[in-house]
Amino acid sequence: WPGFAPYVKAINDLKKHRNAVVLAHNYMTPEIFHCVADVVGDSLQLAREAAKADADVIVQCGVHFMAETSKLLNPNKTVLIPDSNAGCSLAESITGADVRALREAYPGVPIVTYVNTSAEVKAECDICCTSSNAVKVVESMGTDRVILIPDEFLAKYVASKTDVQIITWKGHCEVHERFTAEELRAYREADPGVKIIAHPECPPDVIGESDFTGSTSGMIQWVQDNQPSKVLLVTECSMSDNVAVETPGVEFVRPCNLCPHMKRITLPKILDSLIFLKEEVTVPEDVAEPARRAVERMINLNN
Ligand code: 13P
Ligand code: SF4
Repeated sequence: WPGFAPYVKAINDLKKHRNAVVLAHNYMTPEIFHCVADVVGDSLQLAREAAKADADVIVQCGVHFMAETSKLLNPNKTVLIPDSNAGCSLAESITGADVRALREAYPGVPIVTYVNTSAEVKAECDICCTSSNAVKVVESMGTDRVILIPDEFLAKYVASKTDVQIITWKGHCEVHERFTAEELRAYREADPGVKIIAHPECPPDVIGESDFTGSTSGMIQWVQDNQPSKVLLVTECSMSDNVAVETPGVEFVRPCNLCPHMKRITLPKILDSLIFLKEEVTVPEDVAEPARRAVERMINLNN
C-alpha cells in the first residue's frame, strides 16, 4: 500500500506525544505488524505485555476480547481499540448465562475459558487459557474432568494431549473451521515436501494432516527454527505475509482465510484512535474483578 508512509510517521509521532504503546496481534497486516507495533504476539504474549505496560495509553490492534483483557490488567490506564466492532465468532458463541447453566449441570467441575471470550464470560469461569497453554492450564486444575469453553476444536485438540476428560461447547472460529483435510491432502500430493502447520482452532481432521500444531507465535517460531523450503500455514492470511518478511528463504503456499474482524483494524483507524483517544474500552467493576482473577490466575501459572 504505497500511501501508508505518512500514516506510519503520524502514528509513531503521536505514540510519543500520548505516551502510548501499540500491542498488535500476529494477524495484523504487515504495515501495522512491522511499522507501528511496539509489541507483537499471540494472545498470551499480548496479555503478558499488557500486564507489564507502563504507558498511559494502550492501543490494542486486534479484536475486542484482546482489548478487554488489556483493560482488565490495566484498570487505571486508557485502553483503546481502533474499531470496537472487531469481534470474534468464538467470543460471540457463549454468554455468562450459558456458563452459569454449565456450572449447574456439572457441579464441582472447574471451568476453563479460552481467552477468546467476553469479560462477562471470563467472570463466570475459574481460569483462562490460550492456544499456547491450554493443556497446561487444564492439567493445573488437578481434576479428572474439566469444562473447556467455548471452542469445540481446541477442546478436542487438548483432549488428544491429556488424560483429563474434557467437556466442551459448540463454538467455532469462523476462519479456521473453513479449512478441510481434503484441501490439505491435495496440497501434499501436489508437493510432498511441503510442511503443513495448523492452529489448534482447526477441525481435528485438519490438525491430523499437519506436521505441527501451535499458537500463532508457536507457528512463527516453528518456521523460524526449521526454515522449511515450503510451508503452508493453516491460519489467517496475514501470518504468512508477516513471517515471509523475516524468512526470505521460505516459500509460503496459500490457502489462507481472512479474519474479517482482525481486518477492521487499519492504519487510518489507528491514527484516529490516537488523535481522538477512541474507542475507549471499559469493563464494569463488578464484572472486571472476577474476570481479572481468571486472567491473572493464568498469567501467574507462568507457562
Ligand atoms: P493465538 O493466541 O494463537 O494468537 O490465537 C488467537 C486467535 O484469535 C486465533 O484465531
Ligand atoms: Fe476469532 Fe477466529 Fe478471528 Fe481469531 S481468527 S479473532 S478466533 S474469528
